[in-house]
Amino acid sequence: MTLATPIPSADRQQPATTPRRGAGLRIDHVSKSFPLKGESLLVLDDISLAVEPGEFVAIVGGSGCGKSTLLRLLAGLDPDYQGTLLHDGAPIDGPTLQRGLIFQDHRLFPWLTVEQNVEMAFTNTDVPAAERRRRVAAEIARVGLDGFAGAYPHQLSGGMSQRAAIARALVGRPDVLLLDEPLGALDALTRLHMQKELRRLWQEEGITMLMVTHDIEEAVYLADRVVVLEARPGRVRRIQAVPLPHPRQRRDAAFVALRDGLLADFGERGDEAGD
Ligand SMILES: Nc1ncnc2c1ncn2[C@@H]1O[C@H](COP(=O)(O)OP(=O)(O)OP(=O)(O)O)[C@@H](O)[C@H]1O
Ligand SMILES: [Mg+2]
Repeated sequence: MTLATPIPSADRQQPATTPRRGAGLRIDHVSKSFPLKGESLLVLDDISLAVEPGEFVAIVGGSGCGKSTLLRLLAGLDPDYQGTLLHDGAPIDGPTLQRGLIFQDHRLFPWLTVEQNVEMAFTNTDVPAAERRRRVAAEIARVGLDGFAGAYPHQLSGGMSQRAAIARALVGRPDVLLLDEPLGALDALTRLHMQKELRRLWQEEGITMLMVTHDIEEAVYLADRVVVLEARPGRVRRIQAVPLPHPRQRRDAAFVALRDGLLADFGERGDEAGD
């Protein structure tokens, strides 16, 4: 190979790993309440949404409208809800490596190295040690963190930490990634860069992506469809298709029109634009 590889993760096809492929998600008449001061607070009210295999869906909505609650249900972290949740046609009944989860704050353990943090994904699995090591190294390379496997989180930038968190979610070979404001804590420039990385990851891997974001422009930049939730109780207000080719140009008239249409939708509700 004489070709230079200037962009770290652009050519990370790992022949040793099974190709990923997106799986479908189905949210069917899902409602969720939390107990509050002896009463029941309805947080999600009859949400239905089918996410197609390999689709990128963004969820936007005001603070407190239930976005994180919905992702936690989909992750299998909370079994207490009404309705049906299916992943690849099967009921969701607990966490699994098939659904990777990425949060706004990367939630890396500060006392573990990048390598050890990524390997934490295998806790309580029977994946053999040698295979763990191989897959951990492959994912660290895929997200462009070669050379930082032994670094601790405090030695990484915000973007690098978030990439480590993405590697940890990918190491389980998920067919669905659930992302809860994954770029929300990053500065504006790093955020733009990481948006491109997420897009590339999605295009290269074919994983189904369901991403919560406060940033409507980010949603229009990345998603096939943008789901707008409204609050109290959380309901689907509108689903906006984004039929624009990638890579999307933020200044394109069609892009601007879609973004402004969604922003206007938020503007009507006054306080909930989020940005
Ligand atoms: N464990 C819990 N117990 C009681 N109420 C909860 C719990 N988790 C969330 N809630 C309530 O559910 C509602 C939705 O919370 P959620 O975190 O899903 O909102 P969100 O849309 O993710 O908001 P944000 O954009 O601020 O992250 C809020 O009113 C919150 O107070
Ligand atoms: Mg949230």
